[in-house]
Amino acid sequence: MFNFKHEWIETNVGLLLVLTMLAISIGGLVEIAPLFFIKNTVEKVDGVRPYTPLELRGRDIYQREGCYLCHSQMIRPFRDEALRYGHYSLAAESQYDHPFQWGSKRTGPDLARVGGKYSNEWQVAHLTAPRSMVPQSVMPDYPWLVKNELNFADIEDRMKALRDVGVPYSLTKSEYDDNVKKFGAQTAEMLSIPDARKNLIAQAQSGNYDGNSGSISEMDALVAYLQMLGTLVDFRKYDDDAFVKYR
Ligand code: HEC
Repeated sequence: MFNFKHEWIETNVGLLLVLTMLAISIGGLVEIAPLFFIKNTVEKVDGVRPYTPLELRGRDIYQREGCYLCHSQMIRPFRDEALRYGHYSLAAESQYDHPFQWGSKRTGPDLARVGGKYSNEWQVAHLTAPRSMVPQSVMPDYPWLVKNELNFADIEDRMKALRDVGVPYSLTKSEYDDNVKKFGAQTAEMLSIPDARKNLIAQAQSGNYDGNSGSISEMDALVAYLQMLGTLVDFRKYDDDAFVKYR
């Protein structure tokens, strides 16, 4: 009886086509439909903000130097990952990343929560000569980062480009006011495009990331970026200690 029906379907091209389409569209719907509700799917968390101008330049250098070729920035929701790196990455944490740096190649460790793991001095020494800190390391030396002065002549344009794709850097007074409501006055100030240069210089000087307060180097920017990775969300406020307690 069953065999008979099967043969009947397979020899009836029109019917086979219709049934095939039906089967495929069910599969498609199951995958696609949830994306229409993505706003509800991405968990809302407090604390995530766009990068400050200095961190943004640091991120550019991270991409220029190809750090992503060896480092991922996404902690998977598995126990071994959480034990090693901390709380698994949330979609909300990379909402202002264009392009995102999730990656999958891990010649080196995941960097999604490397912020605050080491001192600035360690980061500078490690980036300049990784084997001075970790003798077995296969990471390349980046000695030019401390020597190169940071170019931030086009910082406003970089922020404007990100604003065009939805990152809330503010250009107008009303955008600034929205940011004050959303992120608080201090952060809103850092996200103001007209004040970008002033803010970048102030953060580099007060942070003194490369240990040399005289000039602003590419190292200042890269270390500022590394030191904030994964630090924006305070996971103690959320109710899943299972992952938090290992951090
Ligand atoms: C050829 C692959 C490779 C490249 C390219 C690379 N790294 Fe690494 N990185 C490693 C390896 C392997 C380690 C682990 C050993 C060590 O600490 O040096 C590491 C470790 C690190 C650590 C310490 C992580 C931790 O949790 O201990 C940081 C921070 C880091 N890299 C940053 C960078 C940055 C920034 C760049 C780009 C400027 C970069 N790496 C480029 C391979 C690489």
